[in-house]
Amino acid sequence: MATVTDTRLRAEQIKPKIGARILNTKAELLSGELSAEINALLEERCVLVFPKLDFTDEEQIQFTNLLGGNAMEIRGEEMFKVSLDRKVNQNVAEYLLGSLYWHIDGTMNSIPIRASMLTGKVLAPEGGDTLFANTATSYEDLPEARKAEIDGLRVQHSLWNSALYHTPEPTDAQLADWQEKGEAQVPLVVKHQSGRKSLVLGNTAAHVIGKDYRESAQILNSLRNFATSEPYTYRHVWTVGDTVLWDNRTSLHRATPYDPDCGRMMHRTILKGGEAWEQD
Ligand code: OGA
Ligand code: MN
Repeated sequence: MATVTDTRLRAEQIKPKIGARILNTKAELLSGELSAEINALLEERCVLVFPKLDFTDEEQIQFTNLLGGNAMEIRGEEMFKVSLDRKVNQNVAEYLLGSLYWHIDGTMNSIPIRASMLTGKVLAPEGGDTLFANTATSYEDLPEARKAEIDGLRVQHSLWNSALYHTPEPTDAQLADWQEKGEAQVPLVVKHQSGRKSLVLGNTAAHVIGKDYRESAQILNSLRNFATSEPYTYRHVWTVGDTVLWDNRTSLHRATPYDPDCGRMMHRTILKGGEAWEQD
C-alpha cells in the first residue's frame, strides 16, 4: 500500500530582510517533496538555515540534487572541503583566503552558481562565523535617484582583484598565476527572470567601466557598505551539523577571521544555475 504523506514546509523568518530557519526533519527534506517550496523560499529569503541536520556527504549531495542539481566544484568533485589549511587544500587554500571578505561565489562564471550549501564539520575555536547579506532587499531600499544613477553600469570582475585583498604585495609569479584565472564584465544591477533586481558586488569587483579610479571606488565601496549594513545581513554562528543554503546570485557572504591552522572544516556543494547574469 502506498504511504500517504503530508509533509509541509515548516519555516520561520530570521530577520525581516533576510533569512529563514527550516525546521523539517532530514527525512522530510530528503523525500524531495519539499524541494519546490524550498527553492521558492530560498529566492524570497536569500539564506536558509537547517539547524543540526548532521548530513553525511552523500546526503548533502542528494539534497543538492533534489533542489535542482549539483554543479561540479573547482576540481570536478561534487563536494568541496572548505579549509584554509594548506595540507588539506594545497594550491586552493590561498584563493580561499578571499572568503574572509565579502564576495559572491564564481562571479566570473558565464552562468553564475545559483546557490551554495555549507555544512559545518569542524568549527574554529574562535571566529569562523559566516555572514550573509541580501543584495536584493538592499537594492530595493536604495533611493530611486541612486537606482537611476547606477542602473546600466557595468563592472569588471577578476579573481586577481580578490587576491589583492589578502595578498596586497604578491610576487610577479603570483600575480601572473592569478591573472590567468577568470575575468568578466557583469552588470552592477542584474535583473533576474523573476523580475527582481539585485547588486553584484564583492571582492572580485575591480572597477566600474567608464568611471575614473576615484569615482569607481566610491560607487563600489558605498554600495557594499549599504548592502552589508545591519538590516540586510545575517550572521550564522555555527553548531556542528548545521547546513546553510544561500542564493548566490542575490547575496554576498564572508567568513569572519579564524586561524587557518585551527582545523575548521566546512563541506560545500553548489547548485547549478540556469540563468546568465545578463538577460537578453
Ligand atoms: C564558501 C565560503 C565561507 C565560510 O564556501 O564559498 O565563502 O564561512 N565559505 O567558510
Ligand atoms: Mn564563498
